[in-house]
This record gives sequence, C-alpha cells and structure tokens, in this order.
Amino acid sequence: MNTMSLSVASLKFPIKRLLPRQNPLSLVSKAPSVSVMMRTLATATPEAVAVPLGTMPPYHKATIGQLQTFDLPQEVAVTEENRAMGKAMIKAWRKDGILQIKMTPAQGDMLRRCFKTSKDFFKLPAEEKARHIDDQSFAGYIASGEELTDGIADYSEIFTVTKDLPTSDPRVQNKWPCHGPCPWPNESYKGMMNELMTLLGESGEKLLKLTALGLGLANANALTNMTEDGWHHMRILRFPQVDKTNGKGKTGRGIGSHTDYGLLVIAGQDDVGGLFVRPKIEGESIKNWQSSAAGVNENDDKWVYVPPVDNVLTVFPGKSIRQPFLWIPPSLRAIDS
Ligand SMILES: [Fe+2]
Repeated sequence: MNTMSLSVASLKFPIKRLLPRQNPLSLVSKAPSVSVMMRTLATATPEAVAVPLGTMPPYHKATIGQLQTFDLPQEVAVTEENRAMGKAMIKAWRKDGILQIKMTPAQGDMLRRCFKTSKDFFKLPAEEKARHIDDQSFAGYIASGEELTDGIADYSEIFTVTKDLPTSDPRVQNKWPCHGPCPWPNESYKGMMNELMTLLGESGEKLLKLTALGLGLANANALTNMTEDGWHHMRILRFPQVDKTNGKGKTGRGIGSHTDYGLLVIAGQDDVGGLFVRPKIEGESIKNWQSSAAGVNENDDKWVYVPPVDNVLTVFPGKSIRQPFLWIPPSLRAIDS
C-alpha cells in the first residue's frame, strides 16, 4: 500500500500543537496522507461511487465503508448551494469521520504518476535513501521502523515534505524549527510532488471555505485566514507487504491507531488498500487532547475499512478542529497489505 497525505495546519496555532511527538523524526503527521474534480457548479448532493469491495485485507475485524463523495466547486462563492455542501460535509465527518472528494481523471493520473515515482524512490538501496534527510526542515526520508505509535514500531517508510525554504530565508537563518530546504531525491521527484501539493493545497482552501460556510460562520474566510502561509506538509508513505515486518513488532502492522493533528488531512491511496477509520461511537468519549489516543481501540471491531476508489481523495479533520468546534476527530490506522 502506498499513500500520500497533506496536513493543513495553521501558523496561528502554537507550533507545539502541531508537533505532538517529541522525537524529531516524528515531527509530522502519521496520516496515510492525500484531490478534486473541479466542476463549474457545486452540488450539495454527495454522489454514490462504486466501491471495490474485494481489497479488504484478511484477518481484520472491520466493516467496509461506503463513504460520501463530494464534487468541489471551481470557486467557493458564498451561495446557498455551497452552504448546503459545507453542512453536508460536516454531517459526513461527524457520522463517518472521513469523506471523499473527486479528482478529474487527469488529476488522478497525476496522483498515479506520483505513486510510481514514489515507488521508484523507495526501491533504492537504504544507504541511498538515507542520504535525503535534513535536520533543520525535518523533511526527507524516514526508514521503516523509525517511528513509533504507542511504543511499537510502525513499518511504513516515509518521505516527508515540509516547508521547502532556501537557506537564505530569514526563518531558516534564524533557525526556526521545521523550516529549511527539502532534501529532494531529484528534480523530477520535486516537480511532481510540488504539482501534487499545489492541487492538494487548492483543495484544502476550498474545503476550509466550505467548512466555514457549513458551520454558519459570518466570514467564509475565517478558517483560510488562519491557514495562510501555514506549516502545511505532505507525507509520502509506503507500507511493506504483510508479514514482512523485519521480525519486529506486531505481525502485519503498518501504523497503529492514532488521531491526526492540524486542521485537515487530505489523503490519496493507491489501489492496494489498507486504510481504516474508526468514527466516533455514540456514548464514547475519547479525550485525545488530554492523553494520547495512540493505540486506543486498535483491535476492536468498530473499525471501518476505506476501500481504494479511483480518482478520489479522502479528507478528515485533525485535532485542531476540535477546539473551536467541539468536534472529535476520527481515529485512523493503516496496515500493510
Ligand atoms: Fe495519521
């Protein structure tokens, strides 16, 4: 399984809230991370998308999700139609914890090319991949087993893209944490991932505007005003095949259950599958702002499998959305497959 995700964050939140883990190799979201068909007219009616049901990994207790899919408008104007779409999105998040947005076929092709490029990088020898790290931006390669969830090694290997800034930038000169150059593997990889991040960033802007409208906020830009020039970042992940866990940890485990920080995570997965979401269960109270949700409920039977669907991205809220809106983000986990 291969995934990409973009975490939308805000500069106006204290940075430590963006960085719940203290391990400098774990500074960014573990979200199996993260686009959108541009249409001329918005629709408030989520469309049913045919879901391939045969990809659910064996030996996992989960129901198969039938997620709602939204077709984002080209521009998010303040209209009743967009308010209705925003409300429907919020309803879907509260019910399912996650929703899908459409990509155009061309955007889907771009995502698939990014996956191919990503796979080519991950096939390189470990010593070559390990050259692409940077201790100021904390961007670059993370080997399988280097990150922990609930004290157990995760088996995803990751390339993280943080704010890619030249060494001449005053923030880099002043040693701002997580600000610095991205140690790209090559120019082609850089170009493709930047193109993808542009698409994801545009989608994030629209999603936040629609969310503001759906929440009934007077200012449709209330959320995007907070995220302008925020510390958004992308993670490109590869999960090893089931049982190839290097003899460590739980057999077949990819990333343990956890919630994500930031405002929004926009994620794309390839056609292999392996992502699960655990929506809020009525009557349950998981206070992940008081103690870590890592590993919580990891093996219960309330998980919902998110089947891979062509030309969609998944979107789910992060922890920062809870504060202003008392909104509990979903738990997520991903396994090898
Ligand atoms: Fe995550």
